[in-house]
Amino acid sequence: MTDELAQMREQLAARVVADTRISSERVAAALYAVPRHLFLPGRPPEVAYQNDAIVTKRDETGQPISSSSQPTIMAIMLDQLDLAPGQRVLEIGAGTGYNAALISHVVGPSGQVTSVDIDPELVGQAREHLARAGFSDVTVVCADGAGGYPERAPYDRVIATVGVSDLAPAWLEQAVPQARIVVPLDVRGTQLCVAFEPVDPADPGGPWTSRSLVPCGFMRMRGSLAGPERIVTLAPGLSLLLPDGTLPGDPDRDGADIDGPVMAALLAALLAGPSVRHPTGIRVTGPGSAEVFWGLGLWLAAREPRSCRLGEERPSGRSDAPGGWLTGAPLGGPGWHTTLGLLDAGGLAILSFAADPDRPGVVTLDAVGFGPLAVRLAADLTAHVQAWAEAGRQGIEGLHIDAYPRSSPHDPRPSADALIMQRPGMRFAVYHD
Ligand SMILES: C[S@@+](CC[C@H](N)C(=O)[O-])C[C@H]1O[C@@H](n2cnc3c(N)ncnc32)[C@H](O)[C@@H]1O
Repeated sequence: MTDELAQMREQLAARVVADTRISSERVAAALYAVPRHLFLPGRPPEVAYQNDAIVTKRDETGQPISSSSQPTIMAIMLDQLDLAPGQRVLEIGAGTGYNAALISHVVGPSGQVTSVDIDPELVGQAREHLARAGFSDVTVVCADGAGGYPERAPYDRVIATVGVSDLAPAWLEQAVPQARIVVPLDVRGTQLCVAFEPVDPADPGGPWTSRSLVPCGFMRMRGSLAGPERIVTLAPGLSLLLPDGTLPGDPDRDGADIDGPVMAALLAALLAGPSVRHPTGIRVTGPGSAEVFWGLGLWLAAREPRSCRLGEERPSGRSDAPGGWLTGAPLGGPGWHTTLGLLDAGGLAILSFAADPDRPGVVTLDAVGFGPLAVRLAADLTAHVQAWAEAGRQGIEGLHIDAYPRSSPHDPRPSADALIMQRPGMRFAVYHD
C-alpha cells in the first residue's frame, strides 16, 4: 500500500477516534489497521477515506438499500458492543464487509465473525473485499438476518448494521446468557443505536434492557423483520417517512395505498404550494442540532400519531440541482437535509430554522404548514415545540428502552410517560427515568 493511502487511512482513523472519544483501544486500532478503500472498489480513495456514509446500491425508486455506513457511527456501535478477543460475533447486514473486517480485527484469530446479508450480489462482493483485505476467515452468508445463523451459534455479541424496529427472537435464542446486542432501533421515526443486555442473565427468555443509547440514522431492514414504517418518494430526491406506515387523520384513508403515485404527487404539490409560517419563539442550538431532531423527535414519537419525517437528498457538490424543498431543515449534511413534522389527510406542517437577522448565530424554530389544514397543523406543531421546551427539552439523557420477548411472562412496567411499541417479536417500553 502506498504511503498516500496509509496516510489517508490514518487521518480518517484519527479523526473518528477524536470525534467519538470511544473507549475501546481495540476498536481504535482496527480503524487504523483496516483499509476502507479495499471495500469500496470503484470509488476514489479520497472518497473512501471521507468520514461519510457511501451508498453502494439503490432500489428501483432510488432509495438506498446498501452502503458503507459512516465510520463515526460504526466506531460508536463497535464501542457499544464491548468487543474483546476470542468472541463469536454475528453481524446482520454485511454490505461491503468493512465493518465485519473491523470486528474480525478486534476478536482476532481466536474469535469468529459471521456476517449475514439478504442480497446475494452484495454477499458475493463482501466475500471478495474481505479476501482481498486478508479477512477470508470471516463467514459471509446470504440469508434473511431475521433468522440469525443457527449453524455458528451461540454468539457472544450480535450487531445489526441496518435499521430495525424489533429484535428477532432468533438473535436472542442464538446468544449466550451474558450477550450484548447492538441495533439501530426505530422509535416511531427516531432512530437510536441501542446496546441491549439481559436484565437477569440467569432468566433465559426474560426482558432485556438498554445499557447505552446513541442517535443514529440507518437505512431500514428488508425481509420478514421489515418494520411498519414506510418511505414514500414524493419527488426525485424527496422522501417522506411514515412511522406507522399509514396516513393518520382520515379514517377513510388509513391503510390506503399511500405509496401510490397519486398520493405522492398530491403531497409534493402541497409542498410546492403556498405555506403559512408559525414562529414558535423557541431558540435552539443551530443547524445540525441533535437536540431538535432526537429530543423533539422522541417527544413527537411518544405523543403524536400524525408525526412524520421528510428527507431530501441532493447530488453532492450540486447546489444548483433541482430541489431545495427542505432548506432550513434542522438536520443536514453534505447533500442531504431532514426535518420532522405532522401529516394528516388535510395537509402537512414541518419544522424549519429561522435565523434572527438582528442576532447573528441565533436560530429559532418555525412551524411551516402546507395544504388546506396548514394553519391548524402549524399551530399544533408549534404547541408541541413549546410544550417540549417548557418541559425542559427532554432528549436522550435518562432515556431507557426495555425489550420484553413476546414469549416472556413479564409485562412492560406501566408508567405514565412510557411509549409502548408492540412488535411481532418484542414489546418495547421507551421511558425517561
Ligand atoms: C448499511 S448496510 C451495512 C453496512 C455494512 N455493515 C458495511 O460495513 O459495509 C445495510 C445492509 O443490510 C442489508 N440488509 C437489509 N435487510 C436485511 C436482512 N433482512 N437481512 C440481512 N441483511 C439485510 C442490506 O442489504 C445492506 O447491505
